[in-house]
Amino acid sequence: MTDRPTMRRGDALLNLIGNTPLVPLYFEAEQRTVWAKCEFLNPSGSIKDRLARTIVLDAEQRGLLHPDSTILECTSGNTGIAFAMVGAARGYKVAIVMSKRASGERRMIIRHFGAELILFDEPGYLAGIEMTRQMAANDSNYFLPCQFENQLNAMDHAHETGPEILKAVPGPIDVFVTGYGTGGTLAGCSKSLKAARKETQIVAMEPSESALLAGEEACCHWIEGIAGGFVPPLLRGVEIDSTCKVSSPEAIEMTLRLNREFGLLVGSSSGANTAAALRQAQELPKDAVVVTILCDRAERYFSTRLFQ
Ligand SMILES: Cc1ncc(COP(=O)(O)O)c(C=O)c1O
Repeated sequence: MTDRPTMRRGDALLNLIGNTPLVPLYFEAEQRTVWAKCEFLNPSGSIKDRLARTIVLDAEQRGLLHPDSTILECTSGNTGIAFAMVGAARGYKVAIVMSKRASGERRMIIRHFGAELILFDEPGYLAGIEMTRQMAANDSNYFLPCQFENQLNAMDHAHETGPEILKAVPGPIDVFVTGYGTGGTLAGCSKSLKAARKETQIVAMEPSESALLAGEEACCHWIEGIAGGFVPPLLRGVEIDSTCKVSSPEAIEMTLRLNREFGLLVGSSSGANTAAALRQAQELPKDAVVVTILCDRAERYFSTRLFQ
């Protein structure tokens, strides 16, 4: 009799998360290379799969998840999709609180995985986060991952995404640039990249219309998944060397270049990150190593400006 590996329900899916490729993108017109971490290749199509996997595994280990539990999270979409996918694979109920302004495709994917969707009217996240807190206060079966303050969010990137980048890049990294939603990616990756080489410059990309770290007011922008109108707690104390503003039209233009010049079907935060990374690369010698993140796939944005 052959031994079968001892696998838990959902392990096969969880093992597909992470270890994404890092690819050099050569921009002919600018004669510069940007190294892009392909997080859109995670199984649900975004960087948020890492967070959903790690928080669920940690909660299981600590005995916080049981058959009657419902994972309850407020999200702009990708975290909801990721938890809905991990919940489906692992056998947990999932309820996602989301602004009505988030794209319909994201809602459809979340429902398709079998999760419950609770919509609220206001833009940003704050009203939704408050709603999840009230629901959990009235029902102990809710498990709140709290992506905006959960240190596992940043730790996961410090222990996995950052080291994966370091392993894949030939030579020292000059600049790492990415935007922030919860700030988990920026906080975690910057920690491991700075620990490996303190000269690596950490650049926070922000929408020009909502450049809070640059000391400006938050306003409306079209870059999906980032800059929810407040500086997230996970960014407190993070070593950020500079910020780089990218306007919404610039982000869309670069996203279309990634789609059409490189064949990478990614969303607008990937375009915004790449626009910021290319700008950094243009200020440095041609062989500089500038790394950024391609956060998610474009198919969840058919109804948004990206496809209009
Ligand atoms: C499309 C997209 N890009 C970027 C981010 C930012 O990632 P983080 O939350 O780690 O700051 C998110 C977060 O939800 C996202 O959905």
